[in-house]
Amino acid sequence: MYKKTAKELLTFIEKSYSCFHLIQNMKEELKENGFQELYESQEWQLERGGKYYVSRNESSLIAFQIPKENFTGFQIMASHSDFPTFKVKENPEICVENQYTKLNVEKYGGMLCAPWFDRPLSVAGRLLVKVGDAIETKLVNVDRDLVMIPNLAIHMNREVNDGYKYNAQTDMLPLYSNTAEKGNFMSVVAESAGVEKENILGSDLYLYNRMAGSIWGGNEEFVSSPKLDDTQCAFASLKGFLQAENKKAVSVHCVLDNEEVGSGTKQGAASTFLKDTLGRINRGLNRTEDEYLRALANSFMISADNAHGVHPNYSDKTDLTNRPYLNGGIVIKYSANQKYTTDAVSAAMFKTICDRAKVPYQNFVNRSDMLGGSTLGNISNTQVAVNTVDIGVAQLAMHSPYETCGVKDTYYLIEVAKEFYKSAVISDGNGKYHIEKA
Ligand code: CO
Repeated sequence: MYKKTAKELLTFIEKSYSCFHLIQNMKEELKENGFQELYESQEWQLERGGKYYVSRNESSLIAFQIPKENFTGFQIMASHSDFPTFKVKENPEICVENQYTKLNVEKYGGMLCAPWFDRPLSVAGRLLVKVGDAIETKLVNVDRDLVMIPNLAIHMNREVNDGYKYNAQTDMLPLYSNTAEKGNFMSVVAESAGVEKENILGSDLYLYNRMAGSIWGGNEEFVSSPKLDDTQCAFASLKGFLQAENKKAVSVHCVLDNEEVGSGTKQGAASTFLKDTLGRINRGLNRTEDEYLRALANSFMISADNAHGVHPNYSDKTDLTNRPYLNGGIVIKYSANQKYTTDAVSAAMFKTICDRAKVPYQNFVNRSDMLGGSTLGNISNTQVAVNTVDIGVAQLAMHSPYETCGVKDTYYLIEVAKEFYKSAVISDGNGKYHIEKA
């Protein structure tokens, strides 16, 4: 069953060429499961017992199920849709000596540069296209090996293995063609999208790794794939969400864009998207502002983003006493400075849910002499303040275009998500909590 789930994850990742495609794939699955699409620009007719989803910028998504009876709170699981990559710049073609065309790209997020070299890459994203007197969004994926970032031979830089500082403007530009013909790139993109090149008014195009995912190891313990961070958590959240019915709380599956660049966009965790949506749910059911605030006090959020497992070659990079391993269960992330939202309250709640789901858990804290990364939880809390735990799945090579995790962990996270979405957190306001089966 672990391997079956891991294979399903790899299939999902393979068709999630860009964050727009990831959200599109989720929308299709929600629709198949009887969910109704809502639009932020239109009036919402919500019903108790209803199942809905809404997206912002085509790159962030919130799906929710409303219980039949008056709800007590929100059970929110949040993850992110974006991943570190390269964005194709406007006017991208650079001709080299009348022999080559390479593409001008810039970094999106903080990636490991070296593994981007010498592997087949392609381009996917969205186009804004003039259709009559309207402008329409079209997703595009050039579904073939299209570009490559070739390394410099060892003979031409003998010192490269002693460490190299990659310059994004000079070292990382992908080779596109053996001709010096300008305009060809957008023709290929337009043809893949089935539109006329002249009608393209805007584009958000990103490189992606074409290499398929793999299950490997002496006993098939490992899974490697592009974009495990954070598609793995987003996928597990969706699967748990679709398998659980909540009779007390509103279940909220939330996938947000732009985590890798700090979340400060109109559709990121720092935006009003979650707050606006929860407020509209509350008002749409003719509940008062007071009822909304009470519901928030009885809500819980899981901020799910992948975590660093102990590395076999660099085991001293992990904290001395908190050592998460691949296949070791869900990682609870702690930070004294609250880069991770976990505290005694949210840890206790989350552990209770893991125990009920019969899923193991482990801890992550940065070494005290190392600065770690950040994630969605604390940023989202500045807009919607609810008890929140930061968790993830242990992985290696975070922000490489080919990352590695354990074969069991996706299954574990789905089980936890399912249990979470069947629960309701009730607080008496005095430090006492009940996690009710709902
Ligand atoms: Co992440």
